[in-house]
Amino acid sequence: MLFSFLPISTCLLISAVLADPRRGPRHSHFNTAEKHINDASGGISWTRTWAGAELQQSNGTFRSVTGTFTVPSISGPIGAGAAALVGIDGGACNMIFEAGVIFNITSTGPQNKAVWEWYPDPLGAFPDNFTIAAGDSINVTVSASNATSGLVEIQNLSNQQSATQRVQSSHALCGQSAEWIVEDYLLNDTSTNPVPLANFGKVVFTHAQAGGPGNQTFGPQGSTIVGIEQNGQYLTNVSVDASSVVVKYVKPTGNEGRVGCCH
Ligand SMILES: *[C@@H]1O[C@H](CO)[C@@H](O)[C@H](O)[C@H]1NC(C)=O
Ligand SMILES: *[C@@H]1O[C@H](CO)[C@@H](O)[C@H](O)[C@H]1NC(C)=O
Ligand SMILES: *[C@@H]1O[C@H](CO)[C@@H](O)[C@H](O)[C@H]1NC(C)=O
Ligand SMILES: *[C@@H]1O[C@H](CO)[C@@H](O)[C@H](O)[C@H]1NC(C)=O
Ligand SMILES: *[C@@H]1O[C@H](CO)[C@@H](O)[C@H](O)[C@H]1NC(C)=O
Ligand SMILES: *[C@@H]1O[C@H](CO)[C@@H](O)[C@H](O)[C@H]1NC(C)=O
Ligand SMILES: *[C@@H]1O[C@H](CO)[C@@H](O)[C@H](O)[C@H]1NC(C)=O
Ligand SMILES: *[C@@H]1O[C@H](CO)[C@@H](O)[C@H](O)[C@H]1NC(C)=O
Ligand SMILES: *[C@@H]1O[C@H](CO)[C@@H](O)[C@H](O)[C@H]1NC(C)=O
Repeated sequence: MLFSFLPISTCLLISAVLADPRRGPRHSHFNTAEKHINDASGGISWTRTWAGAELQQSNGTFRSVTGTFTVPSISGPIGAGAAALVGIDGGACNMIFEAGVIFNITSTGPQNKAVWEWYPDPLGAFPDNFTIAAGDSINVTVSASNATSGLVEIQNLSNQQSATQRVQSSHALCGQSAEWIVEDYLLNDTSTNPVPLANFGKVVFTHAQAGGPGNQTFGPQGSTIVGIEQNGQYLTNVSVDASSVVVKYVKPTGNEGRVGCCH
């Protein structure tokens, strides 16, 4: 565990785990019964904790991932949340280098925080002066300079304010997948369940692109499509085209698995 550029105090500002340490490879739960519902590349994988597009190639293919999204207005009970992230790996390679924005319903309303994670190292957060509000257009990019070192760039396209962070880890990336996702995060390593998924409306990643070690670029088309399923309820609807990934929140039906209530 090594964050040579990161003051410890920054790590403690926020507590969440963006990668479910027990889920194994991110697309481990493949529900063939739902295969026909929303079929973009031969089927959907369903997980409890994340939804979006995962582009898979051979080791060493990806060095960078970028995407731009508008910060959604979220709703739900206090403690409900979600995160919009772009990242490298997390599939067959258990390390993940990712960054984006965590959304959280607090007692004083929704809160947004710009974060990065080189899983399994702890989450890092950008300083509080990088404030993010619903409606802001955020461009986030992670790029690995080598297997254990990289750069996170986050930019508010609404006012051009930007922040960067260098990150190092002892956990080598493989560069075999790139993803644009919405995650239902865990509060800590011992959480058995993710936080209640906030109603995030939709997160649309535009200018979605992954880059290779040379000048090669890849769009999200051809990705594995992943959805969030909890208690038998399908909570997302994902679609992909050449340069965008759309993750829509789907309200659970009936009382079981009901999230956002009480308004
Ligand atoms: C979300 O807000 C709740 C309530 O204020 C807090 O307990 C929790 O730690 C926050 N979660 C994150 C990931 O910031
Ligand atoms: C935000 O705070 C950091 C230090 O925590 C500082 O380096 C940076 O310049 C500040 N940015 C703005 C826009 O004030
Ligand atoms: C992003 O830009 C919007 C619009 O100017 C502003 O309200 C918001 O505070 C900005 N956020 C950051 C992090 O600069
Ligand atoms: C997002 O930021 C990256 C890195 O700075 C840049 O290469 C890319 O052009 C930006 N994308 C948009 C849509 O502004
Ligand atoms: C990886 O890149 C970082 C930053 O450029 C550098 O400090 C480090 O020595 C490099 N590591 C290896 C193994 O090349
Ligand atoms: C991909 O890279 C990882 C880490 O470098 C390695 O453990 C794994 O065996 C590689 N997989 C293949 C198929 O080469
Ligand atoms: C971890 O999160 C769970 C909720 O998922 C909470 O009950 C528990 O107190 C937390 N543990 C620590 C050490 O913060
Ligand atoms: C990448 O593109 C730049 C500018 O077109 C070119 O100078 C460079 O040689 C290219 N690099 C590779 C590895 O193809
Ligand atoms: C996703 O949306 C499409 C139409 O946009 C619809 O046909 C499909 O049934 C939806 N799938 C799920 C799982 O909600």
